[in-house]
Amino acid sequence: MQWTQHPVISATGLFTPAETITNEELVDSFNRYVESHNAEHAEAIAAGAVAPLTESSAGFIEKASGIKARHVLSKAPILDSAIMAPRLPERGNDELSIMAEIGVAAARDALANAGRAPGDVDAVLCAASNMQRAYPAMAIEIQQALGIDGFAFDMNVACSSATFGIQAAADAIRAGNARSVLVVSPEITSGHLNWRDRDSHFIFGDVATAVLVEDAALAPAQHWDILGTRLKTAFSNAIRNNFGFLNRAHPDSTDAPDKLFVQEGRKVFKEVVPMVSALILEEAERLGIEPAGLRRLWLHQANAGMNRLIAQRVLGHEASEDESPTVLDRYGNTSSAGSIIAFHLNNRDLAPGDEGLICSFGAGYSVGTLFVRKAG
Ligand code: COA
Repeated sequence: MQWTQHPVISATGLFTPAETITNEELVDSFNRYVESHNAEHAEAIAAGAVAPLTESSAGFIEKASGIKARHVLSKAPILDSAIMAPRLPERGNDELSIMAEIGVAAARDALANAGRAPGDVDAVLCAASNMQRAYPAMAIEIQQALGIDGFAFDMNVACSSATFGIQAAADAIRAGNARSVLVVSPEITSGHLNWRDRDSHFIFGDVATAVLVEDAALAPAQHWDILGTRLKTAFSNAIRNNFGFLNRAHPDSTDAPDKLFVQEGRKVFKEVVPMVSALILEEAERLGIEPAGLRRLWLHQANAGMNRLIAQRVLGHEASEDESPTVLDRYGNTSSAGSIIAFHLNNRDLAPGDEGLICSFGAGYSVGTLFVRKAG
């Protein structure tokens, strides 16, 4: 076969956990925690030594974020106001780890959608905002579970992991180092979320996605040409998680909230919207694409208001749900997987020649853009 060294998206895959938590269930559990905390510390609160906690509200959550529910891998302990964290039993070294398991499920879905067998794949990137362990790489475990002969490695760019992974996969194909690369994003975000923090307890959900990036010569007739990829990072502490191998605070500990996800939501909103819009518009110009002509935007799924503003700046008018679909309402923020879920669930109806944009943004700060055109 003559290799083109032109990368395309052959297919995508999705694994969605069966359990969901609605805003109402979440707030009910959170408010029970607030009530018991305030009762337990009643004297100290009355003496002014401890600040009382304030209740959360389902109405606020939907209005501020657009989120109505989220999928999780471990619902009962999250809603147990005495635990408020997932409890996923540790598995033995001979068992497939949970992160690899959901990654493999998404990868198998992508392979089936492309009509491809694992033996056709040369490389696996596990691109996600949290890795279950330090090593061996999650990607190598996924590679082994699928039976792929080649190479694999992990990478983490928080919410932008998937788009950065797709560019790395595309670069490997452009350089002739691989012909078929799986970019797998298992996001068990429930594990890094502080379910006791009123400002952010509603944000995240669990999921896994996979994107099969291949040389055009190998791809099925129905695929998406990658017209261009562009990445940008700029250091910021506005979204941060200090958990790591040099500290051993219990991740659920209320004494160490900085070892879980922490953000200044307003600041993120204000700083990231212009950064993302500018990068999209610059990259469209570089590629000779008229932004207003983009048929669909598959944006990172963190906040409905942010997406409204970005889409407006790119398209020049308020985007319809058809132009900028949201999955945030059902999935919550699934970190790097969000824009890939939006793409996976909302691309089949487009016609050959239609152009669109997959775009992620988040901690770092980091932004990744991926302009695509439907082939076939
Ligand atoms: N229930 C009820 N009220 C709440 C609440 C809750 N769970 N959390 C906060 N509030 C209140 C606050 O106390 C505040 O009240 P005040 O005005 O009386 O002080 C008010 O709601 C507004 O709080 P604020 O934190 O400014 O909310 P917001 O409108 O900025 O929305 C986010 C919060 C997190 C939804 C929003 O900032 C956001 O999504 N930002 C972008 C985040 C992002 O993309 N992060 C990337 C993650 S990877």
